[in-house]
Amino acid sequence: MIIKSAEFLISNKDIKKCPEPVKPEYAFIGRSNVGKSSLINMITGKKNMAKTSSTPGKTKLINHFIINDEWYLVDLPGLGFAKVSKKERSGIEEIISDYLLSRKNLLNTFILIDSRLKPQNIDIEFINWMGEKRVPFVLVFTKVDKNTKNTLHKNIEYYKKFLLKYWEELPRIFITSSEKKIGRDDILEFIEETNKVFPF
Ligand code: GTP
Ligand code: MG
Repeated sequence: MIIKSAEFLISNKDIKKCPEPVKPEYAFIGRSNVGKSSLINMITGKKNMAKTSSTPGKTKLINHFIINDEWYLVDLPGLGFAKVSKKERSGIEEIISDYLLSRKNLLNTFILIDSRLKPQNIDIEFINWMGEKRVPFVLVFTKVDKNTKNTLHKNIEYYKKFLLKYWEELPRIFITSSEKKIGRDDILEFIEETNKVFPF
């Protein structure tokens, strides 16, 4: 897929205020600082479209972008960011789960995982929750430029084994680096294919 246009549309906390669900939609989620906004900018080829920051907790709202006038891309708040207050965190979790469970045009959610880390409870809990609720998702390993090839391979194999403790089948996995522009074509091709099922 060639990206011809990518524009920010709206940020909000209220899923009723999201754009009409008339186009295919893809959400990006993962722990704060995992590289969601950077990945979105890499995929769309727009450097500053989603705001990135080295301080975790930058994205706090549901952010809609429209790509090629054809599909919506959504940047969601970071999961489990410890430094916001408990009250604010449970508010964010409610917004996220409301959104994921009720958005009718949501074709897929990209769950981002830091490729340098062993499976983290918060990611596993979220993956298992998505599985139980049958919300379609794929996994995206981020920041692969920060690993040697060998460690990357080991980490991903370990991750797969870990998930197979809970699930019989593994989701699709993408390997990415926003820094080195790795994984862009794979993700865009996947979106292009998935768009074909819409409207259902
Ligand atoms: P929140 O909005 O706070 O939840 O964070 P986020 O997941 O959107 O992360 P963001 O894209 O803001 O990136 C966090 C930090 O990681 C920034 O300092 C980025 O420059 C860095 N980063 C993101 N992707 C990569 C990557 O592929 N490689 C490297 N080396 N650094 C990256
Ligand atoms: Mg962000």
